Amino acid sequence: MSETKIQLRDNGPILVSGTFVIQDGEGNQIDLGGKTSVALCRCGHTGNSPFCDGAHKTCEFAALNRASST
Ligand code: FES
Repeated sequence: MSETKIQLRDNGPILVSGTFVIQDGEGNQIDLGGKTSVALCRCGHTGNSPFCDGAHKTCEFAALNRASST
């Protein structure tokens, strides 16, 4: 089993890679078509929810998350 990695992209989506499943609000598994890496929208402007479609680039979405050094 591979490690699951979640990365918060600057001003963009949440990248998920490795071994994971994604479920909808009722617990039904979303078909990823065998993908082992996906980009989840966090700007709320995608036309392909829950996945990023690049809309964050035109809606002025801003989010710069940094790990704490303490
Ligand atoms: S984060 Fe890319 S469309 Fe929302």
